[in-house]
Amino acid sequence: MCYADLKAKRLKYHISQSKLAVASGYTKAAISSWERNKVIPSPYDLEKLNAILTQLIDAINAGTLNIQKKSIRPSQFASHALPKNIKSPEEYKSLLSAYSPLSYNPYRAKLSELYKCAQCPKSSASPKAIALFSGCGGMSLGFASAGFNVIGHVEIDESACQIYHHNFPHSTLLAHDICSITDKDLFSWQQQYGPIDLIIGGPPCQGFSLAGKRDPEDVRNQLYKYYVHIVSVLRPKIFVMENVRLLTSMKTSDGELFIDCILRAFSSTGYSITRHEINASDYGVPQTRERLFLVGVRSDLNKKFIFPDSIPSDTQKLTFRDATFDLPFLESGESSLDPLHWSISHPTHVIQWLKNVPEGHSAHENIDPALRPPSGFNTTYKRIRWDEPCSTISTNFSMISGCRNVHPSSTRSLTIREATRAQSFPDEFIFTGKWGDIRRAIGNAVPPILAACIAKALYQQFFDIKSF
Ligand SMILES: C[S@@+](CC[C@H](N)C(=O)[O-])C[C@H]1O[C@@H](n2cnc3c(N)ncnc32)[C@H](O)[C@@H]1O
Repeated sequence: MCYADLKAKRLKYHISQSKLAVASGYTKAAISSWERNKVIPSPYDLEKLNAILTQLIDAINAGTLNIQKKSIRPSQFASHALPKNIKSPEEYKSLLSAYSPLSYNPYRAKLSELYKCAQCPKSSASPKAIALFSGCGGMSLGFASAGFNVIGHVEIDESACQIYHHNFPHSTLLAHDICSITDKDLFSWQQQYGPIDLIIGGPPCQGFSLAGKRDPEDVRNQLYKYYVHIVSVLRPKIFVMENVRLLTSMKTSDGELFIDCILRAFSSTGYSITRHEINASDYGVPQTRERLFLVGVRSDLNKKFIFPDSIPSDTQKLTFRDATFDLPFLESGESSLDPLHWSISHPTHVIQWLKNVPEGHSAHENIDPALRPPSGFNTTYKRIRWDEPCSTISTNFSMISGCRNVHPSSTRSLTIREATRAQSFPDEFIFTGKWGDIRRAIGNAVPPILAACIAKALYQQFFDIKSF
């Protein structure tokens, strides 16, 4: 076999050099230099490339990999390839089962395992938890995987509730709007479920985050008061509240730090609180995501929570490559059989701006000034890097003009599947509804792997019989 045979095979099946590079782990430059006879590949490299090429061709023949032919313009292709919104869990499961990844990914397997643990039936002795502001259930998934029985949740957004329900069918929606919960409701929950051991949840962070206006008068910034009230009535052993790290610098209109108001409110209900500012990438999540956790322990327990250790500083953090290397390589407008892995079709001029921009750089840094966006900052239209954790997944990760939303080597924004992987949602986690609702739920979530780390530590320190 010589390289010309491989090239002929590659071209016959419209597999781009970039796709082959991602699937094989060789650089596109290496493949290009072999194809142009500039460098002779070793027999080992030839054999490896042949094996990968055969795998890709098998996937194309089996219909599990959708390759866009060069002659088709992305916009034309996408107009009939765009998958429809997912209507039911059955539809999601059947679409997913038709898809098989190109290769084994240990990270994907770890997420599957987490999903399985979360689905394990809980016993009557399992500690009971309630999730406030549950969203689609990122935090709940982590806690359920560590052995907590999340018996109820509160969430105002109908689409997030739907997703939550598909993944946690045994959890009861206790209320939509946290502001509508009365003391009478709380007492009736207590009668129905018995003592609640744990309350988890993160109030909306838009009012505190840089992506929002950071308006001290934003009514969402007051929602924590309902959380405090529920804790003060149900008196769980522990509560865990999550928010953006920037909450710590936000001031009320009286000039007081919000964080001080929140800590004071919780302390006055008889809880000792520890605060932890962390980055999810230090806890096995392939994403830079800075967050604040407040962990309150009921004062009569006389015990301090020890936050779990981050991965050792000399250990390699999980990267975007670790999270996604097994996914089909897609260009703008292409789709795959994975219902969540398809790309938006971007306008041709935007593709031109980004096409030759290397990973880690922005279209605003295009070496050809004529191919730069007319205005904006170089944090926008920016490629993430293969070998670093993904940038923070926000609710607008599909906007190519957003901050660091561009794939490292394809000229497109991230797909929903890439975002779920970066957020550490297992592929098995059921997403239904409109694409926009799914993206919002994912961007708002606590990464399940991070939640699971905290949950395991809490379980061991406060609920495991051996800890007493
Ligand atoms: C930061 S997200 C929570 C994400 C969740 N912890 C997870 O891991 O998936 C905040 C959630 O609070 C919900 N929310 C906002 N206002 C609410 C209210 N008044 N009552 C209940 N939920 C509310 C939002 O719809 C959003 O899903």
